[in-house]
Amino acid sequence: MAQGDLFRPAIADLVPYEPGKPVEEVQRELGLDRVVKLASNEGQFGPFPAAVEALERSVRELNRYPDGGMYRLTTALAERHGVEPERVAIAAGADAVIMYLSLAALDPGDEIVCGWPSFPSYVIDAIKMGATPVRVPLRDLTYDLEALLAAVTPQTKIVFVANPNNPTGTMVGRAELDRYFDAVPEHVLTVLDEAYFEYVDEPDYPDAIEEYLKRDGRRVLCLRTFSKIYGLAGLRVGYGVGPVDVVAAIRKVRNAFDVSQPAQDAALASLGETEELARRRAATAEARARLEAVCSRLPVEICPRPVANFVYVDCGREVAPLFDALLREGVIVRPLGPFGAPAAMRVTVGEPEENDLFGEALERCLTAAVER
Ligand SMILES: Cc1ncc(COP(=O)(O)O)c(C=O)c1O
Repeated sequence: MAQGDLFRPAIADLVPYEPGKPVEEVQRELGLDRVVKLASNEGQFGPFPAAVEALERSVRELNRYPDGGMYRLTTALAERHGVEPERVAIAAGADAVIMYLSLAALDPGDEIVCGWPSFPSYVIDAIKMGATPVRVPLRDLTYDLEALLAAVTPQTKIVFVANPNNPTGTMVGRAELDRYFDAVPEHVLTVLDEAYFEYVDEPDYPDAIEEYLKRDGRRVLCLRTFSKIYGLAGLRVGYGVGPVDVVAAIRKVRNAFDVSQPAQDAALASLGETEELARRRAATAEARARLEAVCSRLPVEICPRPVANFVYVDCGREVAPLFDALLREGVIVRPLGPFGAPAAMRVTVGEPEENDLFGEALERCLTAAVER
């Protein structure tokens, strides 16, 4: 066997995730006083005080392995959602749930269907397994569920619907999802990725766990995460609530100690802070409106009606040079080439002052680009 034969052909064309440089490094390299990071859709607020307290207690026990069964967190989440614990699959981020599901379900020749541009893990994890990702273009920057259905074949195992969608921030409403679930063939598992669930304040936005899984008994895995509004992105905790067989399969392939004990404890302590969640939701909506207003004064196009904690900004030109220029201004955003939108950037809602700084910096960069 030649050395090159060590790796599975499926991964040959994958490009490693390109992490941004650490903020301190950018600051040092470019000699900046201040760097504003609006790149990763993290919550703009930190962990809840109860989570910090839980962490402080938990670090004293770091000589121990975590509870591999995640008993307390699983039970608490099952209670919160009114389902049996057998329907709750926790992992190191919703991202890991997607990865474990792909590992458990996909073989070469199998297909997954998702909208595009959308969250890249659906595609990357399918490719890792040698399966085929079928990317269905968005309509008006929104998931087109009819087109998704039209792309389903006998080989389709999973349909991913990001609701709201990352990177465009748009959502699909109840009527469309109802129609989708009436029509989707039985052999398909639908993953409704609700990573930004807590930010959405729209009457037409369904709670997929309540409505599609519990009430209608649909074959759906609903994803949630502690990375966004709960302010725990650094700890990596996410989960899926879904059919018992799907959860059992994920648990079979999950690493024994996937979620650290501090992460489990902090997530557990974060449940029940409903007032603070509502405050964060309202503050984010206000800051998002401000970010939209800032962008609307510039020669760019923002995706209308964003409902999560980020906005999609179409700059009408290759965005990489603008990204570099913004970086030199001390503002980090997410260029969307890897999401399939090379002319767009995604900007996470920050503090009001950060949103203004972004707007001023983008204006300077756009002016400089025109003058060049
Ligand atoms: C749509 C979507 N799904 C899943 C995730 C992953 O979240 P986690 O941090 O829980 O892995 C993200 C993170 O940005 C996301 O945008």
